[in-house]
Amino acid sequence: MTIGVFDSGIGGLTVLKKLIMAYPDHEYIYYGDTLNLPYGTKSKETLAVLAEQIINFLLAKGAQILVIACGTISSNLYEQLKNKYKIPIIDVLNPVVNYIKAQGLKNIGIFATPMTISSHTFTKKIGFPVKEIACPLFVPLIESGKINTLACERAIKKYLKELGPVDNIILGCTHYPLLKNALAKYTSANLIDMADGVVKSISLDKKTKQKISLYFSKETANLRNNVKNIIDQDYELKILEN
Ligand code: DGL
Repeated sequence: MTIGVFDSGIGGLTVLKKLIMAYPDHEYIYYGDTLNLPYGTKSKETLAVLAEQIINFLLAKGAQILVIACGTISSNLYEQLKNKYKIPIIDVLNPVVNYIKAQGLKNIGIFATPMTISSHTFTKKIGFPVKEIACPLFVPLIESGKINTLACERAIKKYLKELGPVDNIILGCTHYPLLKNALAKYTSANLIDMADGVVKSISLDKKTKQKISLYFSKETANLRNNVKNIIDQDYELKILEN
């Protein structure tokens, strides 16, 4: 099958990576919108325009199923996009919420982008109060390759302090699993990666030879290095700058 996966930048590669590991014999087309990054502070209207442009691109490339590998688009636009397009669309929120419910997890905190937090979609779907913290500093640090820096350590400590003690933290933005090791130095909470739920909730038939095509809308200083550090299979990377 041909699976289309998208996000604002490299974050969605954390989802793509787990999909490829679980279902290697498929064709993957990834779109990272580095030109319009970050998504987490954009209006819902702007996000809708960007998401539709990307989906149309992925459909034109032959995508048969779509994965919204972005917490911000998933929390604000999933229903709208699911109703608009005819092919199956998987988001990142519903699978993790199903996992939380199935496991009966309690005492939950959420780290996510400002737009995801202000939508309160996590709280609404989980059905009981969870502590939601917006972490606008994380995505720029991750995209610029500053994961193991003092600035990143400071940001982690700041958001953990705002959150207070919890047993579980949902990494509610697909960029944040890239901070998992750094976060684990300062918290013993269970860090939940939304990609694990996506892998369980997708069903793929028609195996084929593996092919991974990665498209980005802008070349950025750390892009190729970041991608190489996340995806260790062979891939083709193209920049779509116009
Ligand atoms: N990785 C995306 C998310 O899951 C977008 C982050 C951003 O661009 O702000 O929310």
